[in-house]
Amino acid sequence: MSQPERTLVLVKPDGVERGLTGEILSRIERKGYQITELLMLNATPQLLAEHYEEHQGKEFFEPLVNFMASGPIVAAIFEGDRVIEGIRQLAGISDPTLADAGTIRGDLGRDWGEGVQKNLIHASDSTLSAEREIDLWFG
Ligand code: PPS
Repeated sequence: MSQPERTLVLVKPDGVERGLTGEILSRIERKGYQITELLMLNATPQLLAEHYEEHQGKEFFEPLVNFMASGPIVAAIFEGDRVIEGIRQLAGISDPTLADAGTIRGDLGRDWGEGVQKNLIHASDSTLSAEREIDLWFG
């Protein structure tokens, strides 16, 4: 039998600071996905630059890395069939002002005067990036 699909979820510093870690992880668990690893950490700019390497050179790269290094992050591995697309759907689109109601970003996030950076959650977008990111954060 094949291994269950896995993905990396990060509760970003705004989610941790606002006391939404439990709510965010709980929404994912209630959907039926399982946490297999969990940790809280302050990520270094080096780790974050590697994590967001595909965005290097974009104008939001540096603000994003600085924001992600500004406070503790909760990192989790979730698993389940089609977990990558399932959690992306639960998270909603990047801009929390425009994310659909019913999604984590749509229900719990908004623009705090800094564009889209405070959007509560990161979730891997493909099997390739999930395995790369899991290795980076938990390897
Ligand atoms: S892109 O260019 O279409 O790939 O961008 P997108 O997929 O929407 O976002 C990629 C990640 O960058 C974050 N992001 C930003 N952070 C700070 N400031 C601005 N302006 C900004 N725009 C996008 C966005 O939240 C995504 O982060 P993750 O952690 O992958 O969700």
